[in-house]
Amino acid sequence: MESKSKIALVTGGSRGLGKDMALRLAQKGIDIILTYNTRAEEAQNVVAQIEQAGQKAVALQLNTANVKSFDLFREQFKALLSGKFNTDHFDFLINNAGFGRNAPIEDFTEEMFDELMNVHFKGVYFLTQKMMALLNDGGGIVNISSGLTRVSFKGSSAYASMKGAVEVFTRYLAKELGPRGIRANIVAPGAVATDFNDGHIRKSEQLTQLVSSITALGRVGMAEDIGGVVAFLCTDDARWVTAQRIEVSGGMLI
Ligand SMILES: NC(=O)c1ccc[n+]([C@@H]2O[C@H](COP(=O)([O-])OP(=O)(O)OC[C@H]3O[C@@H](n4cnc5c(N)ncnc54)[C@H](OP(=O)(O)O)[C@@H]3O)[C@@H](O)[C@H]2O)c1
Repeated sequence: MESKSKIALVTGGSRGLGKDMALRLAQKGIDIILTYNTRAEEAQNVVAQIEQAGQKAVALQLNTANVKSFDLFREQFKALLSGKFNTDHFDFLINNAGFGRNAPIEDFTEEMFDELMNVHFKGVYFLTQKMMALLNDGGGIVNISSGLTRVSFKGSSAYASMKGAVEVFTRYLAKELGPRGIRANIVAPGAVATDFNDGHIRKSEQLTQLVSSITALGRVGMAEDIGGVVAFLCTDDARWVTAQRIEVSGGMLI
């Protein structure tokens, strides 16, 4: 029987923001293929939650730093589309996977820079390149950036620069894929209490207070504050929204 649901690929869907995105997309009736890097069990738990909610879901392993693995990933993905979803295309690509690495500019090593670059810009660029032919016309791409492209915090120079590159790339995607009716947007979260950066916000009372004090809504973000915005961008209500950056920060440093 043919699946009538749309399908979203969410990278880094095993925990944190990606998990919430996957759950919220599923609530909108979208089937989910999520990826994880190391946490297979947590990814399977997300799959189980989505299945309980009545949508199809599958987890695939993918290290988005390893661009050379993307051809093989695409073949696995295509086999999954035809085997489990009875289609050869999908609808939404959510480039979310990522990790934090902070240091002052003078201490940032080339190795640290390359690790960040591979995941946060090179991986996003080439995964999108490899997958975009499989997107249905009329589909969408959401790239996850950060509030740190608008405001500056010491130590985030490399990370924020790469997120800035993703924002520029997103506008080019919107331009080049617009003729296919494919929209490309950016969601830029503020500080969110996840495992990100070794859970630095969650673990530090001082940081939590600081972020709360510079945020209009007076607290740090939670993963559950973000996914619904990504899900909205994957609905028909957002059909005229493309090339936009939506900051989801509770009004951080406005
Ligand atoms: N939290 C914040 O304050 C914040 C603010 C702005 C933007 N962001 C952005 O939001 C995104 C998600 O962050 P988060 O807070 O949800 O972080 P998180 O809780 O640490 O989760 C990170 C997710 O990314 C996956 N991942 C990490 N490195 C990967 C790699 N090399 N290849 C493939 N997957 C990888 C992880 O997979 P495993 O579970 O398998 O390890 C996990 O699913 C990132 O792009 C981050 O830059 C976060």
